[in-house]
Order: sequence, then structure tokens, then C-alpha cells
Amino acid sequence: MKIFVTGMAGFIGSALAKALAQRGDEVVGFDNINNYYDVELKFDRLRSNGIDKWSDKELSISKTMPNLAFIKGDLADLELLERIFKEHKFDAVVNLAAQAGVRYSLINPHSYTKSNVVGFVNLLEVIRHSGVKNFVYASSSSVYGLNEKMPYSEHHETNHQVSVYAATKKANEMLAHTYSHLYDISTTGLRFFTVYGPWGRPDMAPSLFVGAALRGESIKVFNHGEMMRDFTYIDDIVDGVIKVIDKPTTSNPKWDAKNPDPASSKAPFRIYNIGCNNPVKLMDFIKAIETKLGFEIKKEFVGMQDGDVVATYADVSELVKDFGYKPTTTLKDGVGKFVDWYKSYFKDIK
Ligand SMILES: NC(=O)c1ccc[n+]([C@@H]2O[C@H](COP(=O)([O-])OP(=O)(O)OC[C@H]3O[C@@H](n4cnc5c(N)ncnc54)[C@H](O)[C@@H]3O)[C@@H](O)[C@H]2O)c1
Repeated sequence: MKIFVTGMAGFIGSALAKALAQRGDEVVGFDNINNYYDVELKFDRLRSNGIDKWSDKELSISKTMPNLAFIKGDLADLELLERIFKEHKFDAVVNLAAQAGVRYSLINPHSYTKSNVVGFVNLLEVIRHSGVKNFVYASSSSVYGLNEKMPYSEHHETNHQVSVYAATKKANEMLAHTYSHLYDISTTGLRFFTVYGPWGRPDMAPSLFVGAALRGESIKVFNHGEMMRDFTYIDDIVDGVIKVIDKPTTSNPKWDAKNPDPASSKAPFRIYNIGCNNPVKLMDFIKAIETKLGFEIKKEFVGMQDGDVVATYADVSELVKDFGYKPTTTLKDGVGKFVDWYKSYFKDIK
């Protein structure tokens, strides 16, 4: 298959592009390499995939995987997307590019509408006009917002987001449905639940915790530690995304407009949770890091932050039923691999 992967310099995109290329797919990656967090980490992710130059003029071919290429660009640049989709005939598109981060969306909402709404519509437009029929995109557990019914199920209503980030992810799902309905494009939205692992995002708790611990600084423990997260290891996420790419969504023949299921449609549209289905108390996650590091981390217990939710817990039974999805990485193994990577990548931290 020839697959367009956006967000390829990002945490999940770099891992997905590598896995797809390794199994023989032809991959064209795309990313604007923005400076929301350290761009050196993004460059290093690209280098780890054999990409050592980046341009918006031509494809950079990987030195280690000849079937993997990269082009630098912004989803908000419709002309560039049109040019790429004219030059290449893709069998599938996976959209992982987004302005991520819940907290930053409270101070910089416009970067979210630009990348996650304008950029998303641009992508849908070029997909539509070039005849691509298989579109997979990242949504987020944050769309559940104020919903406290656990575990989170795709069949629950999700109309009460509490951050601009989450609202743009919900907008993605609604736009995807519209394009599925109007143009018969198979769209599958995956609601990721707190992904962690090697090459992880520096703005997320696992990196913040390990970095502070190694520097001997204290970590901020929000809501006084009374939080739960369905931490999901990167390999389990990549495995699930590939399963979904390989089996494009079809319409739900049982879908009833008088009692509409939010996760499916009479159009080829589906939403799935992709998580570990095993929520971990924040303090247990910190404990797993401490066990691996071999020392106790200094902690500052603080209140809840705006835009955040107390718990996330994914019901993944739909993904299991339709794709045989099975996360296999234990917390101990996942945290172990993450800490090992962190220490070797940031060698200067003793
Ligand atoms: N990591 C998680 O726990 C998590 C949880 C829920 C949802 N998600 C979603 O999964 C996707 C991937 O997340 P990630 O953790 O790899 O984030 P990331 O920030 O590491 O990767 C996203 C990449 O997209 C690029 N990008 C942003 N705006 C762009 C634009 N307008 N044009 C081109 N490229 C652009 C960034 O430069 C970045 O490299 C995102 O859509 C994110 O919202 C992630």
C-alpha cells in the first residue's frame, strides 16, 4: 500500500511510519516540524528513520528504508497538499499531525483551530478530490470531557469537552462523518488514551516525571495524586493503528436514525477507543518509575488544572471485536523501556 502519514516527526507518527515501512508499505510522511516542543527531538526522530534532510520542495528519501520518504509542510497549506496528492496516488491516509496538548490550548487556541480544523478540512478536501477511500485519523480520549461514566465507551455521547484541544478533536470526528456521508470515504477515528514510550512527548507526564527525577527536582502531582490514566504503550498503539488501516471501515447496516449510535453510521464512518483498558492510579505510575530508577522522586502535591479530567479508562471491546486488538505491554515493561530510552537519549542528565 502507498500511505500518506501526517505528523511523521511526532511521537506516534514516527513510530507508525517506521512500522509501516518495515513491513513493506510505501510511506510518504509529512510534518511542519513546529516548535511546540523541542524541534531537535523531532529532527532526531526523523534521523532515527533515516531521514536527514527536510524540504517542502521535494521528497527526502530515507537512507535506511528506501520505501520511506518525508516532505516538510503544513496542513494549513492547501496548495502544497494539492501538489503532493497530484504527484502521488495514495491508497490510505493517516492523520496524526495536530496541535496536541490540553493545557497549551487554554493559552494558544488559534494554533489548534489552524492545524486541527483548517488543516483537517484541507486534508479531507485533497482526499476527496484525489479519490482516496481509506482515511484513519487521531482523535483523543479528551473528547469524553465531563463524561464520568466509566469505562468510556464509543457509544456514549461526547458533547461536553473541557478544552479547546478536545473540542477540535470532536470537530474532526464530525467533519469525518460529513465527508464519509457526502463522498463515501471510509473514515476511522481512533481515540488515543495517554500514549507513552520511547521517543515520547516532552510535554507529557512520563517525560516530565523522569526528566525532573533525574535532575533531582520535584514533580508536580496534580489533583493531589487522585488521578487515573489508561496509559497505553506506543507499540500497542502502532499495532492497533495498522490493524485499522488494513481493514477500512464500512457502514453499519443496523444503524438506526431514530436512535443513532454515536460511534457508527449508515455512512462508512467509525470511532474506536484505543487504549490499554487498564487504568492506573497516577501514584502507581510514579511508583513504577521510582522502582525502575531505584530512588524516590520528590513530589509537590497540587490541585486540579483547568482543562484536565480526573480519570480516563477505555472500553476497547469494539476494537477487540472488529480487529482482534490486544495490548500486550505491561506497565512494568513499558515504563522500563521508556526510562531506558530517556536515559540513553538525554545522556547528559546524570
Ligand atoms: N500522545 C498521546 O497520548 C495522544 C493522546 C490522544 C491523542 N493524540 C493525538 O495523536 C496524534 C499524534 O500525537 P503525538 O503524541 O505523536 O503528538 P506530536 O506533537 O508528537 O506529533 C504531532 C506532529 O504533528 C506536527 N504538526 C502539528 N501541526 C501540524 C500542521 N499544521 N501541519 C503539519 N504537521 C503538523 C507536529 O510538528 C508534530 O511533529 C495527535 O493528533 C494527537 O492529538 C495523542
